[in-house]
Amino acid sequence: MTKNIGMLVVGVGFVGGQAHAPSFKKIEGSKLVALCDMVEERVKPLAEKHDVKYYLSFDKAIEDPEVDAVVVSVPTPYHYDLAMKAISKGKHVLCEMPVAPKIEQIKELQKAADKAGVFIMPNLNFRFCPVYVKMKELIAEGVIGKPIAMHYREFLPAADLAAQWPAGGWAWNVEKAGGYPDWTLSVWGIDMLRWIMGSEYVDADWMMSYPTFKDFGGIYGYNTMGIAKFENDVVASFHFGASVNKAGAETRFEVYGDNTNVIHGVGVDQIIIYGPDEEKTEMDVKVKGTRVWGHRQGDTHFIESLLANKQPSITLQDAIVAQEIANKITAKLK
Ligand SMILES: NC(=O)c1ccc[n+]([C@@H]2O[C@H](COP(=O)([O-])OP(=O)(O)OC[C@H]3O[C@@H](n4cnc5c(N)ncnc54)[C@H](O)[C@@H]3O)[C@@H](O)[C@H]2O)c1
Repeated sequence: MTKNIGMLVVGVGFVGGQAHAPSFKKIEGSKLVALCDMVEERVKPLAEKHDVKYYLSFDKAIEDPEVDAVVVSVPTPYHYDLAMKAISKGKHVLCEMPVAPKIEQIKELQKAADKAGVFIMPNLNFRFCPVYVKMKELIAEGVIGKPIAMHYREFLPAADLAAQWPAGGWAWNVEKAGGYPDWTLSVWGIDMLRWIMGSEYVDADWMMSYPTFKDFGGIYGYNTMGIAKFENDVVASFHFGASVNKAGAETRFEVYGDNTNVIHGVGVDQIIIYGPDEEKTEMDVKVKGTRVWGHRQGDTHFIESLLANKQPSITLQDAIVAQEIANKITAKLK
């Protein structure tokens, strides 16, 4: 019988604590070995809940012989150092996005992983999100003919952004994080459109507005809009926003086809296909818990790849492409 993959989650905040830790607890072939975070009040109760060990120091955690692979879900400025340490100890890495603020650092991580003979996967979890998986499938089946245009809008309620990434925190430090939260949050959508199309970006450009929201601790309620073109001739537009309340924060992904049909992904729950003659087909793609945004499915893919001793389907090159397009946002700040 193959040994289970021993997992260590470092950084048990929003994504490490809520998405990855519970996922690995349930995935067949994986064993959640330990959690690590420098804030004991956060990591101790979570470790007790999952009945695993916890560490306050990553240097100690990485010495744990039960650990085969590490999920790096600390803030972006620390990904590079922790991922490098994990690689140097011969551990596989699932790294949160953005992988590192600088493209050069991502390339160094790949070199180090290749040298150490370990696998590294960036967590581009939208590729596993049921609504986008189903849309890709339907588009490939030809429901809209040949895709010709796309529009993707993603809103984070201003209150949620202020709670998760308050003004003055790491996520607003352009030098350390790579950009503002609009930059950070754009990488999943940028990658998702490329993956759905199976085509490379030819070009992209961005315009942004950053109003200060005093009622939300001084965060910028960004509206970041982009246009892009793909090698397959499809044009796309983006709207990343954090200037709305919860009720108005509906994410929508629209793809237009050359048979005049249109497919919409509404939030993460529903797909609507607008056919000819006012015909409309609605599909419920609702799932619950850590599957909603594809975390559990992505974590499962990581484990299955390690068990098969092969590189997961998502590579650091995918992260580089997404970050290069997103970097055009940060470049415009200067
Ligand atoms: N895939 C997704 O859906 C998704 C969603 C949000 C954020 N993210 C990414 O995940 C990463 C973390 O974001 P977050 O919102 O969860 O952050 P967070 O601030 O909520 O949590 C980070 C945690 O890391 C801990 N930490 C920081 N430095 C540490 C260190 N050296 N050793 C141990 N623990 C340390 C902090 O105490 C905190 O508990 C970011 O890169 C972000 O871009 C991914």
